[in-house]
Amino acid sequence: MEILGIDIGGSGMKGAIVNTEKGELITERHKIETPQPATPKAVTGVIQQIIDHFNWKGPLGAGFPSIVKEGVTRLAVNLSPEWDDMNIETHVKEKTGLDNTFLNDADSAGLAEIRFGGHDTGGLVVMLTFGTGIGSAFFYNGVLIPNMEFGHVEILGGKNAEKYAAARIRKEKDLSWEEWGDRVNQYLKHLERILSPSLFVIGGGVSRKTEKFMDCIKVRTPVQAATMQNNAGIIGAACRFKDVHSQVLA
Ligand code: BGC
Repeated sequence: MEILGIDIGGSGMKGAIVNTEKGELITERHKIETPQPATPKAVTGVIQQIIDHFNWKGPLGAGFPSIVKEGVTRLAVNLSPEWDDMNIETHVKEKTGLDNTFLNDADSAGLAEIRFGGHDTGGLVVMLTFGTGIGSAFFYNGVLIPNMEFGHVEILGGKNAEKYAAARIRKEKDLSWEEWGDRVNQYLKHLERILSPSLFVIGGGVSRKTEKFMDCIKVRTPVQAATMQNNAGIIGAACRFKDVHSQVLA
């Protein structure tokens, strides 16, 4: 199937048409900066611009940086409080006319990495995306457990992990890669202690630069860099639409 995948992040919104069987983009990516403030009206406007760019009339699968439970968004801390308790799927259908599904952004990226990125080792695979925030996606024997908000666990006696170790913090606090890598290591150690995963997958933009901080990571759990990098969120979001609608559309 060909589906328009859109990855909505705190700083950028990226879309492309995806071949969901191959897990590949079949067009170039089109990127637009996330509007500020990232209200429903503004973000939906950019979704429409991406649809128009591809002159797309088919289905749409999107990744969104908050809890998305049965189409309803909650706690979009890096976008706007106006998203709280909104049925984004109904809203986007009304505004754009396109059939769509929305899934948490890290869950979307994880779905692509598990299916096409070679990380499906079985057991508990924890994918973490480091960007504006920290996203987390859990897979148990290849099956997604959605909305695991482990970017917000408390570490070091009460610090929100995302405010301590997101990639954004490295830039904001002007940390060296080593200083930031130590923070990521503290975070992974905490997760390892409470989850005993089989594998950590490190995603987000930093997955292209793991050589800069991997030496700082000293957990027992194997750690792999995400392989699909910036395309994972787009591909996984499109696959989600296919998964949800496969019986209807088959
Ligand atoms: C949100 C998550 C999201 C992550 C990455 C966090 O602040 O709570 O839902 O996956 O940022 O965008």
